[in-house]
Amino acid sequence: MYLSLRIAALLSVVAGSFSTYTAKRCSEHNATVQPIHIFPNGTSLESLAVRANGQILATVITTPDLYLINPTINSSVSLIHTFPGYTSLLGIVEVELDQFYVIAGNFSFAGDVSTTGSYSVFHVDMGLYLYPALDSFVRKVADFPDGQLLNGLGLLCKEKGLVYIADSYAGVVRLLNVYTGGNHVAINDTLTQPATDGLGVNGVHVSPDSKYLYFTNTNRKILARVPIHPDGRAIGQAKVVASDIPVDDFTFDRDGNVILALNSDNEIGKIDVETGDVMVLAGSLDSTLLEDPTMVRFGRRGEDKRSVYVSRNGGIGEATQVGGGVLRIDLGELA
Ligand SMILES: *[C@@H]1O[C@H](CO)[C@@H](O)[C@H](O)[C@H]1NC(C)=O
Ligand SMILES: *[C@@H]1O[C@H](CO)[C@@H](O)[C@H](O)[C@H]1NC(C)=O
Ligand SMILES: *[C@@H]1O[C@H](CO)[C@@H](O)[C@H](O)[C@H]1NC(C)=O
Ligand SMILES: *[C@@H]1O[C@H](CO)[C@@H](O)[C@H](O)[C@H]1NC(C)=O
Ligand SMILES: *[C@@H]1O[C@H](CO)[C@@H](O)[C@H](O)[C@H]1NC(C)=O
Repeated sequence: MYLSLRIAALLSVVAGSFSTYTAKRCSEHNATVQPIHIFPNGTSLESLAVRANGQILATVITTPDLYLINPTINSSVSLIHTFPGYTSLLGIVEVELDQFYVIAGNFSFAGDVSTTGSYSVFHVDMGLYLYPALDSFVRKVADFPDGQLLNGLGLLCKEKGLVYIADSYAGVVRLLNVYTGGNHVAINDTLTQPATDGLGVNGVHVSPDSKYLYFTNTNRKILARVPIHPDGRAIGQAKVVASDIPVDDFTFDRDGNVILALNSDNEIGKIDVETGDVMVLAGSLDSTLLEDPTMVRFGRRGEDKRSVYVSRNGGIGEATQVGGGVLRIDLGELA
């Protein structure tokens, strides 16, 4: 999730002075971006997850709606659940097969207002979704009375049900046990906090070798990583991997490099986690198709495992605002 371009631009001036390294944009590519589904203007997508069967679950931040989308060009969509008592959905993550966890809370783009204490995590059991008689495929896991803006989710341990949660306004990473609802602040580092008012830590994902939690910090315009213990604690200071980039959420490719949504640049980039070099894979500042991308995930079928699905919020509040949507980008050898 991202602030409006106007505010982000303002913050970047301030955040710039904290940058240790400057990202090298070493190469630019122009992979083809195709629409899976475009929502009406005013509907902004915040995140997505891909099911093992290839279908996409997408969260809306302007209404508390969860959509199921077939991964075909110009697909239709099904609204599978509306979360009463909330205004917005944010991060989504799969723990066990077809067991998804979703953040619901009250966030409004108008004035960037988040209601502290309004956030909850819900379990969405897609294994039960097809059996409406059971009508219980969505169940609350935990409330977060101190939560200021729960945003990205990342899996730490499937067996123990441990999930990291970025709290962007508190500038900390919380750890939730999805089986007990127990949660606590696990990581509170200078680099998870915003440098000034604004969104700090945003996307949170454990590296494929399980040694680091990688995270983006929107206000600081960085991708960073912190070494972690299997119980979720940080066991060292966080370090910047790449800086001077407009960042939202991200994923890893098969080499362990980061593919991320360069939100206000309307681009999808790849960051070499060893050098911090940034390669633009698709999009450009004037792209409306990739207007404010928010999340990136690889396909999970043979035919789309070299493709990413991207959610976009459509640039809400900007002059070039379009509807949110889900897009497909075929990366081939680029990732
Ligand atoms: C990328 O490709 C699109 C579609 O072919 C084209 O409109 C756009 O100008 C290209 N952008 C760049 C930066 O080459
Ligand atoms: C998808 O829809 C767009 C816009 O209506 C259209 O230009 C394009 O041809 C469609 N593509 C496919 C594969 O149906
Ligand atoms: C969140 O928004 C909903 C819908 O407007 C409202 O019913 C609910 O009371 C709000 N929750 C909090 C904690 O303010
Ligand atoms: C995070 O650390 C800062 C600085 O030590 C502290 O002021 C803040 O209260 C901590 N936040 C949380 C949620 O623990
Ligand atoms: C979308 O809505 C916004 C706000 O009403 C408006 O400024 C913008 O022009 C609209 N975009 C399109 C493509 O209709």
